[in-house]
Amino acid sequence: MNRNELIRALPKAELHVHIEGTFEPELMFAIAQRNQIDIPYKSVEEVKQAYNFHNLQSFLDIYYAGANVLVHEQDFYDLAWAYFEKCAEDNVVHTEMFFDPQTHTDRGIEFVTVINGLQRACDDAQEKLGISSKLIMCFLRHLSEEAAFQTLEQALPYKDQIIGVGLDSSEVGHPPAKFERVFAKAREAGFLVVAHAGEEGPAEYVWEALDLLKVNRIDHGVRSEEDPKLMQRLIAEKMPLTVCPLSNLKLCVVDDMAQHNIHRLLKQGVHVTVNSDDPSYFGGYMNDNFFAIAEALDLNNDELKQLAKNSFDASFISDEEKQKWNNQIDALV
Ligand code: ADE
Ligand code: ZN
Repeated sequence: MNRNELIRALPKAELHVHIEGTFEPELMFAIAQRNQIDIPYKSVEEVKQAYNFHNLQSFLDIYYAGANVLVHEQDFYDLAWAYFEKCAEDNVVHTEMFFDPQTHTDRGIEFVTVINGLQRACDDAQEKLGISSKLIMCFLRHLSEEAAFQTLEQALPYKDQIIGVGLDSSEVGHPPAKFERVFAKAREAGFLVVAHAGEEGPAEYVWEALDLLKVNRIDHGVRSEEDPKLMQRLIAEKMPLTVCPLSNLKLCVVDDMAQHNIHRLLKQGVHVTVNSDDPSYFGGYMNDNFFAIAEALDLNNDELKQLAKNSFDASFISDEEKQKWNNQIDALV
């Protein structure tokens, strides 16, 4: 088996994917048309030309605009189902998807519309594709603490369908400390917690996510490397980082994939995983991320297997399930 064949054959878990970031232009056009909503593009080619970002904010502006065409429960179902089909192609057997309720509720879409559409797709994915999944609700950090509290309140009736809460959107200027009290309440209510930190923001934000938000995983976290003490802590606590290589390249967090630090982090013993973030916008799903780093950083088969094992180990599935996938990875020659 050559390297790319191994990547395809490995069972993998995805722990950092925004469902709104899987919105392919073709589906966006189809849903815009059936909902009779205008989008500022004439063709799929024109949409793709607009995807030329230079930082996180330039991406987020386009990403939120795209999500505006999602109105009905069926729209959320179609969005998530299309992603599950990509998972099946890439042998992603388990996924923990982010969704941004405020992007929808702020436009007058009911929380229940979003959750019902996503949940139905998750149920069908289990039944028809054998893919397991969990939902993580993210607070938009550019909005207020009060708005996050309101969103948490809206989520409580659906507590059984949402495994955890996260924190995303514009990082710099919106440190984790802003959401310390909301996260405390979310943990009290029984949610697991994760947060984007150290993507564009400094290592200090990763410390805050650990100490103030008490996260179970750090999303991105690649800037942790700038702080040796933080690196020691991540390694000692086996704190997972959900790294998104193609995203980092597209948003100019790194200039060149050959300079990406995921390989260095892995070799130093940081619990890194590979993820696609917003695959429709960043040029690829799970396997494309693996292919890109394997090639640019010349990863060997043991390292690729370790990354796949890390993805299950860092996930929110049971220990028995983790063991099952671990054994399957070990059995691959
Ligand atoms: N929302 C969607 N993708 C994101 C990212 N990479 N960082 C922060 N917020 C996001
Ligand atoms: Zn993200």
